Amino acid sequence: MAVETLGLDRLVEPGHLTIVVGVQSGDEGKGKLAGLLAPVFDTIASGQGGPNAGHSLEIEGIGEVDTHLLTAAVAFMGKLCILGNGKLIDPLKFQSEKADMESKGLSVTPQNVAISSLAHFIKPSDVFRDASREGGKKAQGSTKSGIAFSASDKTLRVGKRVEEVLKDNPENLYQFAFESLREAVKARSWRDRLLHHVSNRRMKAEARTWAEAAAELRPYVVDSVKMVNDILDDGKAVLVEGAQGFWLDPDHGKWPDVTSTNTTTAGILQGLGVRPQLVKHVVGVAKLTKSQVGGQPFITQIFNEELAATVRGERGQPGAEYGTTTGRERAVGYFDLVEIANAIRVDGVTELALTKMDCASRFGESMKVAVAYKHKVTGEEITFAPNTVAELTEYEPVYVTVPTWGDISNIRKYEDLPQEAKDFVRLVEQHLNVPVSIFGVGAKNEEVIVKPPDSLLAA
Ligand code: GDP
Ligand code: IMO
Ligand code: MG
Repeated sequence: MAVETLGLDRLVEPGHLTIVVGVQSGDEGKGKLAGLLAPVFDTIASGQGGPNAGHSLEIEGIGEVDTHLLTAAVAFMGKLCILGNGKLIDPLKFQSEKADMESKGLSVTPQNVAISSLAHFIKPSDVFRDASREGGKKAQGSTKSGIAFSASDKTLRVGKRVEEVLKDNPENLYQFAFESLREAVKARSWRDRLLHHVSNRRMKAEARTWAEAAAELRPYVVDSVKMVNDILDDGKAVLVEGAQGFWLDPDHGKWPDVTSTNTTTAGILQGLGVRPQLVKHVVGVAKLTKSQVGGQPFITQIFNEELAATVRGERGQPGAEYGTTTGRERAVGYFDLVEIANAIRVDGVTELALTKMDCASRFGESMKVAVAYKHKVTGEEITFAPNTVAELTEYEPVYVTVPTWGDISNIRKYEDLPQEAKDFVRLVEQHLNVPVSIFGVGAKNEEVIVKPPDSLLAA
């Protein structure tokens, strides 16, 4: 169904941004949302994250499209994808993603993709260090994409920015990649080095391949801050596809089990170089089958393996809870209104999209929903999650149990939803005090229900 028919063109505000952000711990369905909204926007930008992100879109006539560095723009002809200054760019991953898109008949060219000269590179040493940390006692459950190490070099002011490819000395980048890889390898134990089969020859070859891939980015490199602001000044609306989710933010998330670029609305603005006054809509995305990967504490996690497997769905099935980037099995749990409340407050969420509404029956005839956290000793109840992980462990979730509903994957009108689903939506809206406007009822782009704007504030 055309996005105009759904009434979602109300999210297009000339000269302003509409931002899609994850309000849980990633994989909420941001890609699907961006894919749904893309037809009414010319530009879909991204200001943070990198190849750690994995967004699955099911586009009619194409099938599944998985984006990592790129945005949903590439799944549509004539749309522009801008990767802002806050992105971490691995040229090898860019190349493989481009090849993957091309195998689906989609194009990735300087005509439809722009990369900020201020974005930082992820280099072979970053990926090596990430992978070797993940293989040891200090593993954090990262996606092994080199994110933490690239971001730390940015902060240490020793990394390299994409602007480097504009300088006419490709040998520089090779030398830089090789030296940093050699240093990273030298710092590891012999055992570790052997484990990763690192030889001087191999390091040179890796650095060379990487530097060549980096040089190929040259035609894509732009002053993205100027580009995005010019587009906005021209009175066009820009859609921003967030990566990761609120609870993976390095400041506000469950540190240290977080990522290394800021995932909030503010982080996105910083990563694009756009002023806050230009934000019009912030669509928070949450999914019914809340999931996490990596080592984050998960207060509503389902530990009953049989139930968890049902909620997760079968590997390979559309919408099953396995990592888009790593293929890892995601931990799943009950819908948690408390953690979403924090995200709504900090991100300035103006409306919510709920994905996987079609999956309610996976929980059984009823499901639990966390509406507060209760202190295990004092019994005090709170409706915003506490500040630190240490404090979080002192609490347990307070649940209400609500009836689930059957197959709604063929429903396309809000009024046709079963009463149980509508009651759940009401509970969410009343609790969070934001309208829930969009509902995913399947992995495919068109499997969606949009609440008519006049019923948006029914809460
Ligand atoms: P993202 O990282 O936030 O873009 O989310 P991912 O794409 O990593 O993970 C979300 C998963 O849920 C993907 O497999 C999507 O195809 C799937 N998905 C998204 N929305 C829906 C929905 O409404 N129903 C179902 N069944 N699957 C969905
Ligand atoms: P999207 O955009 C879910 C998690 C990793 C790990 C932590 C740090 O698809 O929602 P990193 O590789 O960033 O250093 O890993 O963050 N993580 C994600 N989890 N979805 C993502 O992105 C994620 N990106 C990173 O699993 O726990
Ligand atoms: Mg994902």
